Amino acid sequence: MTAATHSPLFPQVPDSADAVLEGLDPEQREVATALRGPVCVLAGAGTGKTRAITHRIAYGVRAGILQPSSVLAVTFTNRAAGEMRGRLRQLGAQGVQARTFHSAALRQLQYFWPKAIGGSLPRLVDRKIQLVADAAAACRVRLDRGELRDVTAEIEWSKVTQTVPADYAPAAVKAGRDIPRDPAEIAQLYSAYEDVKRQRGVIDFEDVLLDRRRPPGPRRHRRAGPRPVPALRGRRVPGRQPAPAAAAGTVARRAGRPVRGR
Ligand SMILES: Nc1ncnc2c1ncn2[C@@H]1O[C@H](COP(=O)(O)OP(=O)(O)O)[C@@H](O)[C@H]1O
Ligand SMILES: [Mg+2]
Repeated sequence: MTAATHSPLFPQVPDSADAVLEGLDPEQREVATALRGPVCVLAGAGTGKTRAITHRIAYGVRAGILQPSSVLAVTFTNRAAGEMRGRLRQLGAQGVQARTFHSAALRQLQYFWPKAIGGSLPRLVDRKIQLVADAAAACRVRLDRGELRDVTAEIEWSKVTQTVPADYAPAAVKAGRDIPRDPAEIAQLYSAYEDVKRQRGVIDFEDVLLDRRRPPGPRRHRRAGPRPVPALRGRRVPGRQPAPAAAAGTVARRAGRPVRGR
């Protein structure tokens, strides 16, 4: 691609898999062509990680090594997911999903819940702090707005670290948390919060990622439905092998942009 045919405002969709690799530096190229097995890219902000990863997906799709519908790109924010979708489309990798972790998990829950648990997925609470306030009222604990926020933060921390209410106090001490009030009281509020949620038939944002409830029924029942999206993984295609740079065990740490291929 020459400067004459390439406008930064209206970039052209690359016309081949190899053309996807143009415009990548050698380390990004190494990431993009390492299609077999997991690859971990460790680098600072703005160094070209997203570019390397989106090109890796696009290269695999355009080369016919990856099925677009089997690839899920996940990131943290809606903005980042939108940016990924745009970049993938621009690289000609239509059909690849790019979502936030929560959106991807919620979508899978919505699909599998009726089959695995039965009924429809509980409603997602939009204002967790209100439920914490209701839990505090049930426990006859008075909390002002700031205290409510502090307790809510402790509940969120507990859930993302998979700490149940009974383990909150020792776990928070061990983690060196700045515990905002009596840990036994926080544990009680956390437990009451989970009760309020259950009574109202709702789930929170953390439940979306962490729901580990075992569905009833035999194992084969759980397997019904489409295959979960596998991790980005290439398969061997006769006559079309990833470039030698993708060889297992490749480790490069150069120019402040370390790349590790495994
Ligand atoms: N090899 C490259 N050539 C030209 N521009 C690049 C290259 N790598 C990254 N960029 C640009 O640098 C900016 C940051 O890249 P990005 O992939 O978003 O970084 P990160 O995800 O690491 O924060 C983007 O505008 C991207 O297009
Ligand atoms: Mg990025």
